[in-house]
Amino acid sequence: MTGKIKGTGACPGDRLVTNEDLAEIVETSDEWIYSRTGIKTRYLSTGRGTSEMAAEASRRALENAGIHPEELDLILLATSTPEYCFPSSACQVQEKIGAVNAAAFDISAACSGFVFALQTACSFLASGSFQRILVIGADDLSKITDWSDRKTCVLFGDGAGAVVMEAEEGGLFRGVMHSDGRKGRVLTCLSRSEGNFLTGKKPEYGFTSMDGQEVFKFAVKKVPECIDQVLSDAEISKEEIRYYILHQANERIIEAVSKRLKEPIEKFPMNIREYGNTSAATIPILLDEMNRAGKLTRRDKIIMAGFGGGLTWGAVLLEW
Ligand code: UT7
Repeated sequence: MTGKIKGTGACPGDRLVTNEDLAEIVETSDEWIYSRTGIKTRYLSTGRGTSEMAAEASRRALENAGIHPEELDLILLATSTPEYCFPSSACQVQEKIGAVNAAAFDISAACSGFVFALQTACSFLASGSFQRILVIGADDLSKITDWSDRKTCVLFGDGAGAVVMEAEEGGLFRGVMHSDGRKGRVLTCLSRSEGNFLTGKKPEYGFTSMDGQEVFKFAVKKVPECIDQVLSDAEISKEEIRYYILHQANERIIEAVSKRLKEPIEKFPMNIREYGNTSAATIPILLDEMNRAGKLTRRDKIIMAGFGGGLTWGAVLLEW
């Protein structure tokens, strides 16, 4: 038993923001941003938070799959930007879409979140615990971005993407997940400081801070390694893979991975130019674009791979 993706949906932030717009608030330029990252624009959310974007992406995925919300028995939502400590964003989505029969919980693995959630879903489907699972990657990064820090603020966008998975006999699934907490400090965002009446400190909220070069080096090394690991576990050659759908953090990272794997860049679809880095949402948004453009054919073998804060990284091999 494995999981099959039955439908996809996406919902980006509502406001298009160009590199030129950002050059008005920090010292940067379209030339710098585009040449270093491949990003031209991003969508930021001005009204909907993480759960509302996630709910809209989920409605679209359910419609695409032809499945009713009451038929879902699990909702997994990968995010670093929940609106509440509790209820979870997954429970908020459950309420918004009317998935009354589902259990729901969030997964926290930063930009690797969707890949981790997808593997969690596939394991549940394989074990027979659940039959239909909604897997969502959603982030509202603009609310945890320091808009005076040009090193980070030019990179990120807001959005959500979702897939509906159903248990199916046969099929193909392999996955690997890794974490290295010792390197956590290269990409952080404080959620809430330890202030209480004993410490005398007031609670503080943090913003994203990143050692970009460290993350870059880590991604270029670890992503090809985990893709190779998945291929070797599945005993499948690279030639059999139709697409590598990678976390969209930087066009140069994707090009470097393509070179290291010795696979043509045409097998690495990208939409970072338009959306920027939407963290856990990049892969499902891209998957939805490809699905709706008819670029995926039944039985295509695809690999999705993500990396990010934690540090975390992982890859999933699935048959479309
Ligand atoms: O989702 C996972 C999380 N993130 C990532 O995957 C990001 C991985 N890292 C990267 O994509 C790249 O490291 C960045 C795009 C973040 C930065 O590119 P870089 O080529 O590593 O630039 P850098 O940090 O080495 O900075 C080069 C220069 C510095 O100036 P000096 O010290 O050489 O004078 C920066 O201050 O560029 C400067 N700089 C900027 N200039 C204009 C940094 N940000 C900007 C900016 N506009 N936005």
